[in-house]
Amino acid sequence: MQKVKMVKIAVIGTGYVGLVSGTCLAEIGHQVVCCDNDSQKIMTLKEGKIPIYEPGLEEMIRHNVMMKRLSFTTSIEEATKESLVIFIAVGTPPKENGEADLSYVEAVSREIGQAMDGYRVIVEKSTVPVKTGQWIKRTIEADNIHSHPFDVVSNPEFLREGSAIEDFMYPDRVVLGVESERAKQIMVEVYEPLNAPLVITSLESAELIKHASNSFLSLKISFINAISRICELVGADVEVVAKGMGLDKRIGPDFLRAGCGYGGFCFPKDLLAFIKIAEEVGYDFKLLKEVQEINEAQKMAVVRKTEELLWNLNNKTIGILGLAFKPNTDDMREAPSITIIKGLQSEGVKIKAYDPVAMPRAKEVLEDVIYGNDPYEVAEGSDCLILLTEWPQFKDLDLLKIKELLSRPNIVDGRNIYQPEEMRKLGFNYKSIGRP
Ligand code: UGA
Repeated sequence: MQKVKMVKIAVIGTGYVGLVSGTCLAEIGHQVVCCDNDSQKIMTLKEGKIPIYEPGLEEMIRHNVMMKRLSFTTSIEEATKESLVIFIAVGTPPKENGEADLSYVEAVSREIGQAMDGYRVIVEKSTVPVKTGQWIKRTIEADNIHSHPFDVVSNPEFLREGSAIEDFMYPDRVVLGVESERAKQIMVEVYEPLNAPLVITSLESAELIKHASNSFLSLKISFINAISRICELVGADVEVVAKGMGLDKRIGPDFLRAGCGYGGFCFPKDLLAFIKIAEEVGYDFKLLKEVQEINEAQKMAVVRKTEELLWNLNNKTIGILGLAFKPNTDDMREAPSITIIKGLQSEGVKIKAYDPVAMPRAKEVLEDVIYGNDPYEVAEGSDCLILLTEWPQFKDLDLLKIKELLSRPNIVDGRNIYQPEEMRKLGFNYKSIGRP
């Protein structure tokens, strides 16, 4: 990676996207100020601690603060005055009807408009509905009392939690929705050090690329999950089917892992929002509604499989391994574990659980769960063990010890991390997803 030219950048919002993007932009040589109205959060960051779990991020923040390329503030005015490019990375949580709540984006746009003292590029980084770029433009125009020139750019992010730094540093593509040559030149300079393929297009197309990409990835997961159900009905193996499909370059091997459903703050929320947007512009996106339904059914299939092993669920004790929506994160938002645990509890099951990092977050959303200090404590005396997150350490468990600790040797593997044949040899009653 070669530094080409330093750009002064402000990132408004130090949530997941903002903090990772801001830090990585500093790492590639830019002068970055990250801004948030949560003064507690800014204080924590100034002390070199981070409010989220993301491998490598804390060290990278410290390094860039030390190099004086990264700083933090609570003042949008100060950040706007200091910078040429301003990334808006504030939250867009779902409203009750599924639409994205854009009130934070609007409020920040206003403040930027009022604080601008010269030309600025305002970049929408938050995941927003198509046409938001135009709304940002109008909002800034209305508050831009001194009529300073500015451009709005859409630059959707494709970071995955848990590998966000790598995703930022080595992206498959950088999408830039621009409306002027001036903004295009500046944004190309910002991303030049990454040497990544650029897709330069209109604001609307850039916004749609984000919706379409996340929806397509969810669709791929639901597709393979639907195939897993058919595999179960005909005695085929979904792992082999996925491999056989994925070797076709037109299909590709990624996001074809059958499991207990997708979760997280992105796919469920973005899918809902996209269905809503499509509806508003006059298209009934039935395909995506089906993707959602398959995902819900996939979570409940874990409850059904457990019932098949235990007959009656009432008064049984079940140990859960893994709570986060995927490994390498403590994020519990829309985690399949929540639906599955609540489903089991409604049948009278007592739940014990362990997750390497997500237990503090889980305590905020789950009730009546006994947390163990390790997987063995959770297995002890349980009638069944259910694996819901494929943390690498679960692959290396002493399974004979687990079997001895369980009161009955039952395992439901919601992520297909063990081999059916081996599990049977070890004497487990073992159920997984879409495998004979
Ligand atoms: C997702 C996208 O992958 C990112 O490109 C995007 O930037 C991000 O949303 C966002 O919009 O902010 P993320 O939610 O961090 O990233 O997680 P993923 O790694 O995509 O996994 C999502 C869910 O799908 C997880 O619950 C995972 O277990 C599940 N999954 C993934 C499967 O069940 N099977 C697979 O084959 C892949």
